[in-house]
Amino acid sequence: MNQAAIHKILAGKPGSKPTPRKLTQLFEKRRGANFTLIQDLFFSLYPETRHTASFKSLQKLLADGFKNRPAELKHQDLQRQGDGNWYQSGAWVGMQLYVDRFCGDLKKLAERIPYFEALGINFLHLMPITKRPSGPNDGGYAVNSYTEIDPRYGTDQDFISLTAAFREKGICLMLDFVVNHTSDEFPWALEAKAGNLKYQEYYYTFPDRNMPDLFEQSLPEVFPETSPGNFTYCPQMERWVMTVFNSYQWDLNYTNPAVFLSMLENLLELSNKGVDVIRFDALAFLWKKIGTSSQNLPEAHRLVALFRLCLQVVAPGVIILAEAIVAPEEIVAYFGKGILEGNECEIAYNATFMACLWNSVATKKTRLLRQSLGNLPPKPDPSTWINYVRCHDDIGLGFDDSHISALGWDPQTHRRFLLDYFCQRLDWSPAKGAVFMYNPFTGDGRITGSTASLLGLERALEEEDALKISSAEAKILMLYGIILAAPGIPLIYAGDEIGMLNDYSYMEEADKMMDSRWINRPIHDWDTVSGLSSEKNHASRIYFGLQHLIALRKQQPGLADVCSIHYHDSGNNHLLVFERDGETDNGILILANFDESPQVVRTALLGALGYMREGQFHNLIDGKTKKVRSGLLELPPAELLWLRKY
Ligand code: GLC
Repeated sequence: MNQAAIHKILAGKPGSKPTPRKLTQLFEKRRGANFTLIQDLFFSLYPETRHTASFKSLQKLLADGFKNRPAELKHQDLQRQGDGNWYQSGAWVGMQLYVDRFCGDLKKLAERIPYFEALGINFLHLMPITKRPSGPNDGGYAVNSYTEIDPRYGTDQDFISLTAAFREKGICLMLDFVVNHTSDEFPWALEAKAGNLKYQEYYYTFPDRNMPDLFEQSLPEVFPETSPGNFTYCPQMERWVMTVFNSYQWDLNYTNPAVFLSMLENLLELSNKGVDVIRFDALAFLWKKIGTSSQNLPEAHRLVALFRLCLQVVAPGVIILAEAIVAPEEIVAYFGKGILEGNECEIAYNATFMACLWNSVATKKTRLLRQSLGNLPPKPDPSTWINYVRCHDDIGLGFDDSHISALGWDPQTHRRFLLDYFCQRLDWSPAKGAVFMYNPFTGDGRITGSTASLLGLERALEEEDALKISSAEAKILMLYGIILAAPGIPLIYAGDEIGMLNDYSYMEEADKMMDSRWINRPIHDWDTVSGLSSEKNHASRIYFGLQHLIALRKQQPGLADVCSIHYHDSGNNHLLVFERDGETDNGILILANFDESPQVVRTALLGALGYMREGQFHNLIDGKTKKVRSGLLELPPAELLWLRKY
C-alpha cells in the first residue's frame, strides 16, 4: 500500500466542505503518516548532523505551504482523495501546447476553452510560461523564475484566473517544474556570478578543469551538436559550471540541502496556484556522481520521492509526471520501487511505446513493438502512462539493442535506416522529417518533424496526390486511434488534430535556427480551424476522425487504465493486435495494419477471443457489423479497427 492509499484511509469520509479545523487535522495526519519516510529520505541524502536545522526548515515549509494553499484547492484535494486514483479514469484526453504559438496569451487561452471542449480535451499541458531570458531559452526550459508568469503570456493574476476557469470546466492542468536546472540569469546564478559563495554552491562550479574532466569521462552529451560537453566556463565567476543541457542552463547542485529546500518552496508555491499535475522535467539527471552517467542514480529517485512525499502532505490532489526519456526499465523505476513503490511519480511518459510506433511505421512491422512492450516490467497499480505520438521534443531511438538483434537486425544499421527513412534520405519514403543532434562520432541521431509530415502528408500535398493524402490521413488516425485505446492518458500534440505540417520558420530566427525541434512547434492555424466542416479537406477529415475516436474512447469503460491489456500474436507481423479488458464484457480488440498493402488476420483468432460470432464482427469506429465470408479478415493499409466483444 502506498502513502496515498494510507492517507485515503486516514481521511475517512470528511464530507464535501470540511471546516478549516478539519482540513488542518487531515494535514497533520498526512504529515504524521509521511514523517518517517520523509525523514529517512532527507537524512539519507543529507546525512551530516549539521543539517538538522535544514530538516526543521523543511517542516516549516510544509506548514507554510499548507497555510498558503487556497481553501478551494484543499477541498479539491479531498475530493480527489475520495475518487481514488482519479488520473486513471478513461475520461482524460490531453493536449500539449505552447500558449504563445497556440493563441497568444493566457487570457486568449481561456477564450479557447470551447475549442478544447468541442474536441473532447480535458487535460492540458502548457509548455513553460514563467519568466525566462530574452535570448535563447530552450522554449522556456531555461527559467528565470519558477512561479512568476512571463509578461509575454500575461500576469500572475491572468494565470490564477485561468486555473479557476479550468477547474470550473473540469480541465486538468499540467505545468512544468524544471527541476534539474535554472537559466544562467536566475537570481541564484546572478549571485553566483557576482562572487557570492553561498550561491556558487547552488550549482556545480569548479575553479579549473580537474573535476569537470573527471565527470566528462562518463557523462554522455545531450545536445552534442549545439552544446558539446557538460561544462561551460563563466568568465564573470572565473569558474566552470556544469551545464548538461544548453550552456545557459545551469545544473542545480542537490547535494546542497539548501537547494532542495528552495526548490521545494518553489514547487509548493506553483502547486498552490492551482496546477494539478507537475511535470518533473529532466528528472533522471538530478544527482551527479563521477564515474557514472549521472542519470537515474538511486539518489535521484530518493530525491524525487522526497519531493513527492512533501508535496503530498501539503497538496494530496496534486500529482507528478516523470519526464524520463530513458531506457524502458529505467522509466518504470520512476513509479517507485521497493519501499518507494507508488511513492515517486504517478505518471510517466510511455516513450517506449511512442518510439516503437514510429519504428513500426518505418518497418511496417510490429514485432519490436510487441516485444518491447511485452517485456516492460509491470508498473505499480496506482500509476499511469501518458501515451503520445509526438511531442515538442525529438524522437529518440532508445530501443533495447537485444530486442533489435532478436529480430535478426543489426542495431546500428537499423537505427541508421530509421534516420534515413524519416529524414529524407530515401527517395521512396513518404516521410519529411529532420535529423536532430546528429553525432558524427557515434553515428547517433534523433528524429524530428510533425506527425503529419513524418507520415507523408506534406509530400502528398506537394505532389497533389489524392491517394497519398488519404493514406497519410489514415496513418495519422491509426496512430492516434492506437494511443487512444492504450492504457493511460492520451496526449495530442496541438496542431496534429488538424494535420499541421512542419514549420520551417525557425530557420530564420537566430535563437532557434540551431534547434530543429522547432520544426514541430507550429503557430496554430486558426484559419484552417475556422474552415473545418465535415469531410471537406484533409484537415477536416483528420479533425472529425479524431473527435469521433475521442468521444468513442470516453464511452468505453474497457479503455480506462485500470483495465488489462494483452498483445496478441496474430501470425501477421504487419498487424498490431491488442485487447483491452478482455476478461469482461467490456472487452475491445484493437487491430491496426502498418503495411502499405492489405493484410489479413484469421477469423478463427477473432472468434476464439470472442470478437466474432456467426461470421460477423462489430467495429465500434464506424458502428457497422460486417460479415466475413472467408476464414480471413482483410484490413486495408493503415486500417484501424476497434472490435466490440460479443
Ligand atoms: C526536457 C524538455 C526539453 C528540454 C530539456 C531541458 O527534456 O522536454 O524540451 O530541452 O528538458 O530542459
